[in-house]
Amino acid sequence: MNLITYFITIFFITFLFELAQSQEGTTTQTSPSTSAYSCDPATCKPSNNCQCASANPPNGLDPKDTPQFVVVTFDDSIQDGLYNTAQQMLNVTNPNGCKAKGTWYVSMQYTDFSLVQQWYAQGNEIADHTFTHVGNPSAQEISSAKAMLHEYGGIPLNKIQGFRAPFLNYTAETFKQLSQQQFSYDSSSSASSDSDNFWPYTLDNGMANDCWTGVCDTNLKLPGFWEFPMYAVMNNASVPQLMDVYLSGSPDDVAKWSMDAFNKHYNGGRQPFGIYVHPTHLSSYPGLPDPKPLMDGVVNLIKSLSEKKDVWVVSNQQILQWMKNPVKASELGSQPYMKCQQPILPSEICNGLDDNNSGGIDDNLLNNCNFGTSNFKTCFNCPSGAPSVSSPTPGSSTQNGTAGYRYPVPENCDPTWWDPVNQKCYCDAAATNCQYKNMAAETNKTSTGNGGSSDASSIQLPVIQIALSMTLVVLAALY
Ligand SMILES: *[C@@H]1O[C@H](CO)[C@@H](O)[C@H](O)[C@H]1NC(C)=O
Ligand SMILES: *[C@@H]1O[C@H](CO)[C@@H](O)[C@H](O)[C@H]1NC(C)=O
Ligand SMILES: *[C@@H]1O[C@H](CO)[C@@H](O)[C@H](O)[C@H]1NC(C)=O
Ligand SMILES: *[C@@H]1O[C@H](CO)[C@@H](O)[C@H](O)[C@H]1NC(C)=O
Ligand SMILES: *[C@@H]1O[C@H](CO)[C@@H](O)[C@H](O)[C@H]1NC(C)=O
Ligand SMILES: *[C@@H]1O[C@H](CO)[C@@H](O)[C@H](O)[C@H]1NC(C)=O
Ligand SMILES: [Zn+2]
Repeated sequence: MNLITYFITIFFITFLFELAQSQEGTTTQTSPSTSAYSCDPATCKPSNNCQCASANPPNGLDPKDTPQFVVVTFDDSIQDGLYNTAQQMLNVTNPNGCKAKGTWYVSMQYTDFSLVQQWYAQGNEIADHTFTHVGNPSAQEISSAKAMLHEYGGIPLNKIQGFRAPFLNYTAETFKQLSQQQFSYDSSSSASSDSDNFWPYTLDNGMANDCWTGVCDTNLKLPGFWEFPMYAVMNNASVPQLMDVYLSGSPDDVAKWSMDAFNKHYNGGRQPFGIYVHPTHLSSYPGLPDPKPLMDGVVNLIKSLSEKKDVWVVSNQQILQWMKNPVKASELGSQPYMKCQQPILPSEICNGLDDNNSGGIDDNLLNNCNFGTSNFKTCFNCPSGAPSVSSPTPGSSTQNGTAGYRYPVPENCDPTWWDPVNQKCYCDAAATNCQYKNMAAETNKTSTGNGGSSDASSIQLPVIQIALSMTLVVLAALY
């Protein structure tokens, strides 16, 4: 590597490292939970998209019948090394034979949008963590990130439902913005005591846990908007640890603290358990300490949790679907949102998957967009200039009708079925014979699990026919 590349690399690593170090802290920022919170479960229930804050499972489910959810979340930019780290962490199987899923709270700087698309294509969740990762973000910081994830990652707007505040520094104002911008949930608050270890709940009656920056006293009420508390782990001194717990003690200590915290949930109200990481700490960079011992600790923790037959490693969006219609653990594996199917396609298209089993994803099909600090790959058109907070999706550098133009995903086609080069949806509303392969593996974890072999099955897409003119959708995206 030449000298300039070397210095750029060092600068870049330093930047990453500093960003990570100055990140969402390891200890939590909590105030006592509010005593003012009250909620009537007789009127606030899943059937009207309302959920009271509670340490018990929703709908009166018995904890022993309730799935124990484990969420693994990743924060900040998505880049090659970080993406591989995340893949290694989620390399476990759920009781129905499907691979574990995770949620990534993505900030835009340094993010590679082809990886955003790959993450989504595997059934994981993409969520918003602002454009530039600033505290107290403006409305535009939030909306610009969503716009880019959609434009360059191909993520349908209605699938971008979650948000996490940079530095976990959430405010009532931010929550109002999120609700206005049609997000479904925030996950920035902490649950760190026995008195506020709540399941996710809606803000119909305000905040019930954490109360950071006085948010519980602001009379904030956002009907139908969900809060997903982040669950803390207590260290030896009973100080709550929230993110990157692996930084706060030896791997053995951290393993013990984590298992103790998990068991409180598992043997208690079965509230979800969380492992919240900045994958920068767990990825190798030349010149920095080898992260392998930390990584091994986290991977072993996830493996040992997932060995239990009622533990499900899921995205927050999967939990949200479950909260809206809670079912017993024995019925979870067959819920549509828990299945794992991938399209069978005649050849490689740019959809985030290895369609022709060549061992490579979207081989030779990605565009490279280069603008100094924002260099990324994408299945879609490169912008004509560097995206910014005020102009996150500048016009395309390639014009419709000219060679190389990429067509945006129409609303009635999932990006895993869309060929942006040939403007073809392999399974849109009109298709009658969409070919899927079932990605579930054999598993012994449940007697009721439906993990069959991974043979191909042919089923009809449960898509409601929308008479959408593709021309209109495509046109709208040009301007
Ligand atoms: C997942 O685990 C399997 C077997 O333990 C291993 O062969 C594979 O390389 C792992 N994949 C990743 C992405 O870590
Ligand atoms: C958190 O937000 C508050 C209120 O907007 C602000 O005063 C404070 O400086 C922020 N702290 C950080 C670390 O961003
Ligand atoms: C934490 O507690 C364990 C015993 O439960 C002990 O072995 C360990 O040394 C303690 N760690 C610290 C950092 O105090
Ligand atoms: C898979 O598709 C890519 C991209 O079109 C192509 O370069 C490659 O040769 C194909 N591989 C196989 C095994 O068909
Ligand atoms: C399932 O259990 C059987 C018998 O207990 C064992 O032989 C087999 O290896 C197990 N399979 C998996 C995938 O764990
Ligand atoms: C691209 O051009 C074709 C042919 O002129 C037209 O039918 C289509 O609507 C255009 N799409 C966009 C996105 O402008
Ligand atoms: Zn962050």
